[in-house]
Amino acid sequence: MEKQIQVAIDGPASAGKSTVAKLVAKKFNYVYCDTGAMYRVVTLAALNRGIDLGDTDKIGELAKQIKISFAPGEPEQKVFLDGEEVTTDIRQGRIDQSVSAVAAVPAVREEMTNIQRQIAEEGGIVMDGRDIGSTVLPNAPVKIFMVATAYERARRRYVENKEKGIETASLEELQKEIELRDKKDSSRKVSPLTQAPDAIRLDTTDLTIDQVVDKISEIIKKTLNEFS
Ligand code: DC
Repeated sequence: MEKQIQVAIDGPASAGKSTVAKLVAKKFNYVYCDTGAMYRVVTLAALNRGIDLGDTDKIGELAKQIKISFAPGEPEQKVFLDGEEVTTDIRQGRIDQSVSAVAAVPAVREEMTNIQRQIAEEGGIVMDGRDIGSTVLPNAPVKIFMVATAYERARRRYVENKEKGIETASLEELQKEIELRDKKDSSRKVSPLTQAPDAIRLDTTDLTIDQVVDKISEIIKKTLNEFS
């Protein structure tokens, strides 16, 4: 069997990581793991239970209690909280606004990191997030850091929301919210959004999804060749 490797894709909000990561995983027949979705599920569970987002002890406990699972789906992977599908619920604006606070809780990160490492043990994996190359899978042979301008990322999120029928803020509001989330994700104490020193930086502002998938696929093939 051909060698399978870990592929870490990190970058700021709405840089297109999930779309690209899922396509790359499909191409190589690897497992795909959207780690942002996991932090979103914890956030949804906290909001549904009326837990104060400042109560880090309770949020940390909650992250250990709930069960997060995935199932294949089109156009996006299905996500479950304690067996109940929450794929659309976790993309609501109220989750966008609260998720950075939940993702900054050390006990939540510890729990999610453990689960993510277990998922990655199973073989070929494409995992996307903020800290995959730097913290979760520091030995991943392929690390990509995807960036795009805040305007372009807001535009993509706006189009995506419209297409999915999700209630959306205006383009200007989305851009402001994305910039705020970048700031919070980059400045938190534990595992902030940062480019691993050995990651390849990919600016996708002027690239199509297919072009990004092709570039990453080339990098994976080259790495697999080096192993063989
Ligand atoms: O990729 P996304 O927008 O679905 O991520 C949601 C939030 O989760 C984002 O604000 C940062 C956080 N996150 C994180 O801290 N670490 C990860 N590995 C993935 C996401």
